[in-house]
Amino acid sequence: MIKRGDLYFPTKDFKKKAWLKDKKIYREAQKDPIKFWENLANELSWRKKWKKVFEHKPPYFKWFVAGKLNITENIFEKNSQGWEEIKNKTAIIWEPEPEKEKPIILTYQELFQRVNKLANGLKKLGVKKGDRVGIYLPMIPEVIISMLACARIGAVHTVVFSAFSSHALQIRLQDTEAKILITADGYYRRGQIINLKQAADEGIKETNVEKVLVVKRAGNQVSWDKNHDLWWHELVGKESDQCQPEIMDSEDPFFILYTSGSTGKPKGILHTCGGYTVQAKFTGKWIFDLKEDDILWCTSDVGWITGITYTAYSPLLNGVPTLFFEGAPDWPAPDRWAKIIEKHKVTTFYTAPTAIRMFEKYGTKVIEKYKFESLQLLGSVGEPIDESAWLWYFKEVGKERCPIVDTWWQTETGGILITSLPGIGPFKPAFTGLPFPGVKVEILNEKGKPCKENEAGNLVLLPPFAPGLLRGIYKNPQKYLETYWSQYGKKIYFTSDGAIIDKNGLIRIIGRVDDVIKMAGHRLSTGELEAAVNFHPDITECAVIGIPDEIKGEAPVVFIVYKGQKSVDEVKKEVIEHIKEEIGPIALPKEIYLVEDLPKTRSGKIMRRILKKLFTRATAKGEEEDKSSSPTDQELGDLSTLANPESVDELKKIIGKK
Ligand code: WT7
Repeated sequence: MIKRGDLYFPTKDFKKKAWLKDKKIYREAQKDPIKFWENLANELSWRKKWKKVFEHKPPYFKWFVAGKLNITENIFEKNSQGWEEIKNKTAIIWEPEPEKEKPIILTYQELFQRVNKLANGLKKLGVKKGDRVGIYLPMIPEVIISMLACARIGAVHTVVFSAFSSHALQIRLQDTEAKILITADGYYRRGQIINLKQAADEGIKETNVEKVLVVKRAGNQVSWDKNHDLWWHELVGKESDQCQPEIMDSEDPFFILYTSGSTGKPKGILHTCGGYTVQAKFTGKWIFDLKEDDILWCTSDVGWITGITYTAYSPLLNGVPTLFFEGAPDWPAPDRWAKIIEKHKVTTFYTAPTAIRMFEKYGTKVIEKYKFESLQLLGSVGEPIDESAWLWYFKEVGKERCPIVDTWWQTETGGILITSLPGIGPFKPAFTGLPFPGVKVEILNEKGKPCKENEAGNLVLLPPFAPGLLRGIYKNPQKYLETYWSQYGKKIYFTSDGAIIDKNGLIRIIGRVDDVIKMAGHRLSTGELEAAVNFHPDITECAVIGIPDEIKGEAPVVFIVYKGQKSVDEVKKEVIEHIKEEIGPIALPKEIYLVEDLPKTRSGKIMRRILKKLFTRATAKGEEEDKSSSPTDQELGDLSTLANPESVDELKKIIGKK
């Protein structure tokens, strides 16, 4: 019987074949983490060796200083598995949404040729090393080809999640000053064709974009402007399938990915070439225990860092096939994901707790007929996984045979930093595990003192951090300093996550300590949502908080002070439309409340803490008693400091009515 609170260890069979099975790797790495990472870097192919492994001028640091490499050489012609060994092996397996369409399978050689053709095409359009290229593509093979083509020629890619709105695209293009955007006519999602080109046309307005390269995917009608639109197939058709790689400095910019922080505007997280490559390669190899006959299915879209690192770069650096898919895991039927695992004999399945809870909710009957014999390892990422979802995943999908790696990391860290290793363990439901070898973390209280066992505090990273940690926020050094290096000084990286550590040294992530909501694993900023809502001319004030959600982990709730004449339903509809336009449908709130007033301090600060308390329930199912009944005034804290305590009574009534 499997139970919460228990520790699990890998089975003998798993351990036998695992890359790492001995705990001594931790001690070795701890002794000299810099040396440890250097040894790993030595296994990659470099054009020029570094002069110094780690250089630290707080809050700035560098890895593999003066080393030169290109990540695509390490994926293709100089892959550590041997090019002759892998060139005819499958590199990507793509499952389209329409069932009548066949999957696309490309070998490493075929992928390489397509990457080179596009790389040459991009050069012809004038793209040079260091130029930013926007990629606004759905999950189709061209999205990975585009990223790799940029990497081949040293262009800096900025992937924008295809379900983001045109406005979200526009602000990213403006910030990066990209001159090229790669997009598609459309794509399939739950049986519909989504017209992506239309959103791209809107998104490039008032930006520096000169050329838009369009993949023909869904064949839908699109508007066309000869001055800047170009079909992908026409551009690459005539290009050579060979292209010399641009030799990159280890610290040259590699890619920028925008993510949400506490305040309004998304931040452009900057990753560099050398450190990222080392971390992507070895975290994948050891955490997913990647071997030549594995097939990795990471369900994340490449619009998020999980997809960039573990759908694209990491499996390819390790010479294994990566599977990815168009559409949704539960459409046209709730067992689509299970079907794909069996059809392609997926060995390694990496997804988010939200998806697991959704599969669980559909019921075990839906997957009764699947044996999942190919599966060897399961992964979870993006938000805390509650014990009940962990246990369901372990039993019903992993058949109590597959280790679960619950991996903690962030857009900023580039790759996984905390998780139990699959051949070593232990695995404990709801605990992510131990820091990856060579990574030093601590949990600190407000005063900067290490917390005791089971005492909640702030999770931080200590030098030398990890090679893949961000090097900056694009064009915003001040924000970099404030967000990560100001709470405990310039030598300690502040993760913005709360955590506890148990007696075995295993870490449990509690959740964000800033104003970031993790909805379905997606990172949303309450500030950004508030800005979107406040845009409405009749809305005088609003507040957004994240509240626990059974499936999505967390979901935003919006409180609006509205003084206009429209009906409640009308206002709600307008707000929803506006959020869709500003951010995208993924940010839609769970509830919208129209209120007379919001609780405020005498200095006029909205007390989101009180709003949140009014909503708080125990999240981990069954772990604690449900506290959803109206909180007592004691639980709400001291209300006497409020300028308007009566607002709380109104809120209690409104929320209670639900
Ligand atoms: C935030 C980062 C890391 C790739 C996907 C998300 C939360 C991430 C876990 C986990 C509990 C987790 C944290 C973190 N998070 N993984 N295994 N357990 N929480 O990247 O969008 O930058 O979000 O996701 O709160 O700070 P991201």
